[in-house]
Amino acid sequence: MLMGQSRSRLRPMLRVLVVRLLKFNCLFLLILMMKSLVSLGTALERGKAEGRKVRLAVIDHVTSMPCVVIPIKELVQICREEGVDQVFVDAAHAIGCTDVNMKEIGADYYTSNLHKWFFCPPSIAFLYCRKSPKSPDLHHPVVSHEYGNGLAIESAWIGTRDYSAQLVVPSVLEFVNRFEGGIEGIKKRNHDTIVEMGEMLAKAWGTHLGCPRHMCASMIMVGLPACLGISNESDTLKLRTHLRDNFGIEVPMYYRAPKEGEVGAITGYARISHQVYNKDNDYYKFRDAVNQLVGNKFTCTLLSK
Ligand SMILES: Cc1ncc(COP(=O)(O)O)c(C=O)c1O
Repeated sequence: MLMGQSRSRLRPMLRVLVVRLLKFNCLFLLILMMKSLVSLGTALERGKAEGRKVRLAVIDHVTSMPCVVIPIKELVQICREEGVDQVFVDAAHAIGCTDVNMKEIGADYYTSNLHKWFFCPPSIAFLYCRKSPKSPDLHHPVVSHEYGNGLAIESAWIGTRDYSAQLVVPSVLEFVNRFEGGIEGIKKRNHDTIVEMGEMLAKAWGTHLGCPRHMCASMIMVGLPACLGISNESDTLKLRTHLRDNFGIEVPMYYRAPKEGEVGAITGYARISHQVYNKDNDYYKFRDAVNQLVGNKFTCTLLSK
């Protein structure tokens, strides 16, 4: 349970989320989001108990599985109001996938790699650190030279490593700008297309999306037909392998345990994504493969034999 201050600050936000989500019949993500908010509130309360202080909160910007864009600005704000010392945002999926504005988000630290949605080879990433009175005390954990000359210069050379991934960034920027609207255009088209394809799949399978369109960026969760009999996490892995081996389809899946007494519930969600190289046919192929499985009365129990 949330207590005292945290509950009163979280309540308006919960109300907004509940209203937004209920419109879309997305109870599964609604419940997850509420659980996360409650956990955050509880953790903040616990951290503050007996006059202690929360030193650091770590929050994802775009969760991976199931995928949803977190209302990060609001969560950072709650942390601030609750007196959390510093907020770190793990935004591994964010750059090139959703809108990112450091000033608006207001976190102390924000990190995203560029190899998920920004066409770079691994392992290239950036770390943003907000200037604050504490900044001079911040150091790279591995300093070769330049100790005390600022985090950026301390991080520039940390010994003999393979720095070639960093050299690719200018070419990637040039590549991205060949597309209409640059990265903004790519993000918008990815978002619009993944929503369209998600809705197409949900309609074809008689299921629903895992989250409303405004809570997804370039990835979306789509319910799989209940008759596939996905009854645990292992089934999602086996089904994923089955689709890869037999249909040439690679798609991650999420298992959602049914609530007590729930009958015929959707227990499996596929996470589909869109990037510039995807074609509508990729999603039609997935649709047809699942329809074929359903038509053949396939269930996941067949995969355990
Ligand atoms: C939220 C989150 N954090 C971190 C990672 C790992 O990122 P990296 O590939 O940069 O190690 C992932 C990968 O999916 C992720 O989703």
